[in-house]
Order: sequence, then C-alpha cells, then structure tokens
Amino acid sequence: MIQIAPSILSGNFLHLEPDLKMINEHADLIHIDVMDGSLVPNISFGFPVMEAIAKVIEVPMDVHLMIVHPEKYIERFAKAGAQMISFHLEAADEAGIDAGEILDLVHRCGAKAGLAIDPDVPVDRLYPYIEKVDFFLIMSVFAGFGGQKFIEDSIGRIRQLHEEMERRGLLRPIEVDGGVSAANAAQLADAGAEILVAGSSVFKAADPAEAIKQMRVR
Ligand code: DX5
Ligand code: ZN
Repeated sequence: MIQIAPSILSGNFLHLEPDLKMINEHADLIHIDVMDGSLVPNISFGFPVMEAIAKVIEVPMDVHLMIVHPEKYIERFAKAGAQMISFHLEAADEAGIDAGEILDLVHRCGAKAGLAIDPDVPVDRLYPYIEKVDFFLIMSVFAGFGGQKFIEDSIGRIRQLHEEMERRGLLRPIEVDGGVSAANAAQLADAGAEILVAGSSVFKAADPAEAIKQMRVR
C-alpha cells in the first residue's frame, strides 16, 4: 500500500492549521523538511514550527533533515515528536561519521531511521545500510527547494534499490521526494516506492484532498 506524505514546506505559513487538518483527514504522514542553508542552499524552519505542528497533527511526523551534523539534533527532533527521521548520507560523509552510527542514534531516540541521498549519489552507496535502516529516501530532485521538476532517472534508481533489497530478502520501504504527482505516482509505485512525498502537487492543487486521492495508485 502506497503512503502519501504531503510536504508542509509547500503549506501556507501564514495559517498552517487548515493544511494540517487536511493532512490529518486525507494523508498518511506529514513530511517536514528541515534545511540549514549549509548542506542545501536554502533555510526552511526548525523546532518552534515543528513543535507547533506537533500540537495539531495526528499522523506520524516524518522529519527530513537536510542539515550538516544531523547527529547533533536528532534527539531534539525525536523529543519534538518525530516518529520518522531521515538524514543525508552526504551529511554523514561530510561529518566523517559512518551513517550506521547515526542510524543507531535515531533508533536509540525511539524513531524510525531513514537514509537519504540526492540524485547524484550512486544508489549502491546505500547497500551497506539495508539491514540497519527502517526506510530509504531517494531524492528525485536536488534537495533544497519545493516545486522542482521530477528527475526521470529516479525511477531507475528506485527500481535498482528495490531489486537489490529483494535479492537480499530484506525489503525496506522506499520514500521518494521531489516533483512527485499523480502523473508519476504509478510509475514510482511500480518501481518499488511505497511512500510518496508531495509538496506543490498537493498544496498548489485546487483540491488538495483530491490530489492526494489521485496519487493513491494502489
Ligand atoms: C526538497 C524537499 C521536498 C519538497 C518537495 O528539498 O525535500 O520534500 O518539499 O516538494 P515538491 O513536491 O514540490 O517537489
Ligand atoms: Zn523532503
């Protein structure tokens, strides 16, 4: 079963509550993008916004950390209520820490641990972590901004990862993030994606609930 995770980055920051209620009613998760202007060339929001979201949201909070040194902040995000926390392999590389140690830390904090990569990182770099992760996050745009065009190559990358996990008999959910809409949902699901993150295709739609429904391809 596909899960839909609307990205609140595309929500209405002047009045988030209606967007959160729409997510409670129609979606499976809320995707929360945290950007630090260092790992990615944009800054989004941090703890105060996340804590406000936590007061209203009823579906699990899926926090996508696009920050350097994720290991410094994971405990705080878990305490703020994140049930799923992903960080970038590139950030672990930059910090000189094995991603496995950060995955362990996420687990110790009681959250599900996800490992993310941008479109220019070879998918086989994820293979050593198949046993340890709870999910993988394949970026289908370069992390940093909502509203970018979906990179078609991502479908093959998802399929490659899915097939490797099948070979090992260790299937972990694959989340896909960036330029996802009803137009590519079926192809992504066929390739093996289970969690579809969608920002602009949900929040820029005239009827966000209907946009979510259209993405439920199975
Ligand atoms: C991009 C973020 C995405 C973004 C997706 O760096 O990680 O979650 O909000 O937005 P859309 O669906 O508009 O590409
Ligand atoms: Zn994201």
